[in-house]
Amino acid sequence: MCGIVGAVAQRDVADILVEGLKRLEYRGYDSAGVAIIDNENQLNRARRLGKVQELADALQAKPIAGGTGIAHTRWATHGAPSEINAHPHMSSETIAVVHNGIIENHEQLRSQLQDLGYHFSSETDTEVIAHLVHHELKSAKSLLAAVQATVKQLEGAYGTVVVDTRDKDRVVVARSGSPLVIGYGVGENFIASDILALLPVTRKFSFLEEGDVAEITRFEVNVFDIDGKPAVREAKESEVCHDVGDKGEYRHYMLKETYEQPTAIRNTLEGRLQGNMLDNQTFGAGADAIFQEIEHVQIIACGTSYHSGMVARYWLEALAGVSCNIEIASEFRYRQSHVPKNALLVTISQSGETADTLAALRLAKEIGYRASLTICNVAGSSLVRESDLAFMTKAGAEIGVASTKAFTTQLVGLLMMTLAIGQHHGMSVEKQNDIAQSLMTLPNKLEEVLALAGSIEELAEDFADKHHALFLGRGDQYPIAMEGALKLKEISYIHAEAYAAGELKHGPLALIDAEMPVIVVAPKNDLIEKLKSNVEEVRARGGLMYVFADASANFSSDDTMKVINVPVCDDLIAPIVYTLPLQLLSYYVAIIKGTDVDQPRNLAKSVTVE
Ligand code: G6P
Repeated sequence: MCGIVGAVAQRDVADILVEGLKRLEYRGYDSAGVAIIDNENQLNRARRLGKVQELADALQAKPIAGGTGIAHTRWATHGAPSEINAHPHMSSETIAVVHNGIIENHEQLRSQLQDLGYHFSSETDTEVIAHLVHHELKSAKSLLAAVQATVKQLEGAYGTVVVDTRDKDRVVVARSGSPLVIGYGVGENFIASDILALLPVTRKFSFLEEGDVAEITRFEVNVFDIDGKPAVREAKESEVCHDVGDKGEYRHYMLKETYEQPTAIRNTLEGRLQGNMLDNQTFGAGADAIFQEIEHVQIIACGTSYHSGMVARYWLEALAGVSCNIEIASEFRYRQSHVPKNALLVTISQSGETADTLAALRLAKEIGYRASLTICNVAGSSLVRESDLAFMTKAGAEIGVASTKAFTTQLVGLLMMTLAIGQHHGMSVEKQNDIAQSLMTLPNKLEEVLALAGSIEELAEDFADKHHALFLGRGDQYPIAMEGALKLKEISYIHAEAYAAGELKHGPLALIDAEMPVIVVAPKNDLIEKLKSNVEEVRARGGLMYVFADASANFSSDDTMKVINVPVCDDLIAPIVYTLPLQLLSYYVAIIKGTDVDQPRNLAKSVTVE
């Protein structure tokens, strides 16, 4: 949520900052800005409402020179999207600040600063940081000391970067609740909220930890921990490749990422499965001992990741014989819950930085969970660093706000986790073999599914004038129906709901008419006859259905139903296989509706605020 880039270099940094913002735009895209200190020690700022390209155009028309600068792409929390509320925020033409997060005590700080004579020019919470740093500098001996004194007064979450015209070759940064990564160059250094922003200029990174404040110059990085003591944050080379921000031949990142799923899953499986045996490093050192001991699994996640956790509950209880609960992070963190004996807390997150999920993990550690495991796509992220065990999905960078390949690789990780836990809880060798073999068939199966794109694109036409849609599934396809509905609403803005098909008669049947398309996820499994009864209930009330099923389920198209034949696959992997047609359906509906597929309105990819 909100993207930050900063640089201290000898060369002009405007282009580096703007390229970084473009790569971070998935984090927020309602306004953008830069502030750069030039050779005359003047702060020059440019801000624009709208996408980063608006800012890029403005800088092209009126370039800003200078080697020290900060930049920001915003997802509004306090104050509407506008040029005035866009970052960087300034104090007295000397201090400029960018910020990601929410300062919860901003009203109180604002009134204290107003009493001191500070004038506010925006409605944001962030502006208090700029004025506070300015105020602290009246007595502090350095910018670093002023920022350290400032952050002590802040309540809430922040990743913030500050520059001062009176100390022009330095940026000072602070992290609490919102991630920041330092990028090391040769004779130049950088800061950003995500390594993606800095891949064009360096591959060497270190992550700041909670409470860290750091000063960064061209030649030096000095980090101080929450107690103000010098700290070492080890720098590592990243394996993420430079061109991840490239759409290649595809019209949108979402489409590219949908098509990358067979490869992403091959990468996620590679080196981890030998026969039916999992490499014992798959979940990290100590996993065997933990899996042996646990008697219960509690899964916590948000958004799409929550849906993958819902599927895992079906798998863990049916295949591994271990009880499992799943809860949305923002609920779990604010209620008093019972902690079962020997319980494993599993978080699932693409970004590894989702504020509610991270807070839930921290709470779980305090209230007595036996151990924690994260299924995550970003190495070095907060969830990975703070969990006892980690399974890294190898989806590669996901840029489209609507999650696709991160979701299906999470499901692969969760099925492997089911296998790993099951091996310690009496899972039969036959079942272990079934899981392993099904997983190995998955990439090729998904390639077959992607070949359905043409027919799904045709189907999408039917949705162009619709305002609502209902998704139905049963068993482990119920969460897939939920994910299908989420995708459709996220990117096409059509109101979509998912129901466990058995619940139809308890309410949603009242909505059925020809204007309410009903999408049914119907692989042939133990529940197919039950689902067919639900389909008949819809048909009898004049509903129009779109049924995704394999040929053996014996549905046929007629006036009330269009059937899309999905390749036959093993039940174990069916939730993953049936996800792809629903992703494609949402994508093509969004194309017809002309929405901004990769950056849908009001959303952001990495939700680092509550
Ligand atoms: C946002 C994104 C979703 C994502 C959710 C959880 O809402 O738009 O795509 O599923 O956050 O994010 P996480 O990074 O924790 O998976």
